[in-house]
Amino acid sequence: MIADEQIKELFVVACDYRKRAYSPYSHFQVGAALLTKEGKIYGGCNIENAAFGPTNCAERTAFFKAVSEGEREFSAIVIVGGKEGEKEEFCAPCGVCRQVMAEFCDPDSFYIILGNSAADCQKFLLEEVLPFSFGAQNIQGS
Ligand code: THU
Repeated sequence: MIADEQIKELFVVACDYRKRAYSPYSHFQVGAALLTKEGKIYGGCNIENAAFGPTNCAERTAFFKAVSEGEREFSAIVIVGGKEGEKEEFCAPCGVCRQVMAEFCDPDSFYIILGNSAADCQKFLLEEVLPFSFGAQNIQGS
């Protein structure tokens, strides 16, 4: 479970980081706020590249920041995104970001929260958005 107050705080951080998006090619701006089990929050934005392939999503920016600081345990991520200057649609994480989440998060307790605010959001468990995932269990012993 995640408290409403905590979700509000995560939306403030995700919206703030969305403003930092570097997206001159798609003009699609995404912000993410990743909550550790200890209650620390790491923000991230999408960072595009003229070569397109090196583009990093907001979610992965937040995860890589956190993991590189030594964090390994996470409880939730809030994602806010949409076309620059337009009313935001709910922004679902891409498949690559879901796979990164699966590397570090419990499928049956990690929350992915999409929306525009704590009052206008939808919560999903990781196992709902990435069923039958490939993980360490598949390569151990091989
Ligand atoms: N993007 C994210 O940052 N997160 C998502 O969940 C979906 C897509 C970014 C990548 C790219 O910079 C832009 O949105 C358009 O795909």
